[in-house]
Amino acid sequence: MAEKIKVLISEEEVNERIEALGKKISEDYAGKQIHLICVLKGGVFFMCELAKRITIPVSMDFMSVSSYGDGTSSSGVVKIAKDLDESLEGKEVIVVEDIIDSGRTLSYLLEILKKRGPKSMGLCTLLDKPDRRVKDVKVDYVGFEIPDEFVVGYGLDYAQKYRNLPYIGVVEGVE
Ligand code: IMP
Ligand code: MG
Repeated sequence: MAEKIKVLISEEEVNERIEALGKKISEDYAGKQIHLICVLKGGVFFMCELAKRITIPVSMDFMSVSSYGDGTSSSGVVKIAKDLDESLEGKEVIVVEDIIDSGRTLSYLLEILKKRGPKSMGLCTLLDKPDRRVKDVKVDYVGFEIPDEFVVGYGLDYAQKYRNLPYIGVVEGVE
């Protein structure tokens, strides 16, 4: 059966929510400068759209991690495939993620980044699957809580496909 994508969250809904998150972050950090960290590749669409809607000064950096796992679940042991270019020392950091699933990757990553001396460390995710949580992570900003379904679009992939969809969808027809 061919894969089909069912829309879960429309482009309009995603855009509205990102607008609201940008406004909230701008208010919460008023008078400060934020350093956004994108976890590649999934977080890239969300971080760019979010950054465009933040009205206070922003700087950005990117990192890429791979988690040792069996393919379908992450082990929580994270290998840094591409590290940040800049130091976090004294910065108001917000890590931007596409989705928090088990929470293993993020909790490990946050431990590493906290040791680099940021002034503060926040976490913003477009999607959250709270039912799947194994490791407790404190999430400061959530776009949408979603049920335990495999989603694609807005940076999220299925076998590297569908990242470019401007909405969040569920893949149907996968064996
Ligand atoms: P975890 O929170 O350590 O389990 O792993 C989170 C990572 O798994 C995310 O950053 C995604 O790359 C990937 N992931 C989890 N759920 C989904 C999904 O529904 N679609 C696409 N990728 C997902
Ligand atoms: Mg990710």
